[in-house]
Amino acid sequence: MTERKRILITGAAGFLGSHLCDRFIKEDYHVIGMDNLITGDLRNIEHLFKLENFEFYNHDVSKFVYVPGELHYILHFASPASPIDYLKIPIQTLKVGSLGTHNLLGLARNKKARMLIASTSEVYGDPNINPQPEEYWGNVNPVGPRGVYDEAKRFQEAITMAYHTFHGLETRIVRIFNTYGPRMRLNDGRVLPAFIGQALRGEPLTMFGDGSQTRSFCYVDDLIEGIYRLLHSDYAQPVNIGNPDEITIKQFGEEIIKLTGTNQELISLPLPTDDPKQRRPDITKAKAILGWEPKVSRSEGLKITLEYFKSLPEHEINHKDFTYYNK
Ligand SMILES: NC(=O)c1ccc[n+]([C@@H]2O[C@H](COP(=O)([O-])OP(=O)(O)OC[C@H]3O[C@@H](n4cnc5c(N)ncnc54)[C@H](O)[C@@H]3O)[C@@H](O)[C@H]2O)c1
Repeated sequence: MTERKRILITGAAGFLGSHLCDRFIKEDYHVIGMDNLITGDLRNIEHLFKLENFEFYNHDVSKFVYVPGELHYILHFASPASPIDYLKIPIQTLKVGSLGTHNLLGLARNKKARMLIASTSEVYGDPNINPQPEEYWGNVNPVGPRGVYDEAKRFQEAITMAYHTFHGLETRIVRIFNTYGPRMRLNDGRVLPAFIGQALRGEPLTMFGDGSQTRSFCYVDDLIEGIYRLLHSDYAQPVNIGNPDEITIKQFGEEIIKLTGTNQELISLPLPTDDPKQRRPDITKAKAILGWEPKVSRSEGLKITLEYFKSLPEHEINHKDFTYYNK
């Protein structure tokens, strides 16, 4: 019998981290989840606790990280990810992208593990070109409200690349574009759950400005497949993973109204500071290097996601302690 590969997944109780845990369990890895539950929820991984090839550490990765035994891979997905979260906890956001990444790179070096970091399309800021290829350096305001997230992620890429070139560490960088699916939080402030939540509660859908800003939404299973392929590739430069099917926020709101069979109005609120006007991944590299492209259409993915949100307890659907952002 061959020994199971051992993988550490940080942010394991979050939206993406929990789907990654599921995927690597399915591929028969020994999965070590780590999370401090600042934005995550143990319900996302509670089905894994009974398995002998799953362990969980409740730990803040911005503090020293120790994991006993061998490690072959590290996936660093711990970080607040929605504007609502990182505006509420800006210092923790900066720390997990910088100190947390440094701690995990040290661990990877010590264990001779390959490390993949979750970067983001936010490294492109409010982009001047559309779609955004990996070569684009971005248009980021370091001292604006989103700077705590965007700059933490840019630093994360820089230190990861430095460990790769200086220490010869095996590293991978995925730049994730807006991803959605089951286990997103209905009240995390991102546009997709915000619109669905409003429709389910019978409230008007709130878009910012005239809703002409664009986003491109990738279904979670497609993203996880892209990450799986990138981890096992030999490519150390950043790779965009996202769905290039671009839509304006206004059209998207109309789609959600149709999908939920409601009759809500779309109303306009003032634009938040530094709101990106357009977002669409150039996935030429992912296609060429990983043979990857998204398979799940927005209509299919939205149906599954809507069913998930509808299955939540009513008090969660009705909980509205948040502001909306069209992320
Ligand atoms: N979902 C997206 O569309 C998207 C897009 C771009 C990038 N990303 C990146 O993917 C990763 C996961 O995002 P998500 O959408 O799953 O968010 P999420 O908030 O659902 O998950 C993040 C998880 O990290 C944990 N965490 C945060 N700080 C921590 C710390 N210091 N120590 C240990 N655990 C900590 C949280 O408790 C949470 O469980 C993040 O790094 C995010 O920047 C996500």
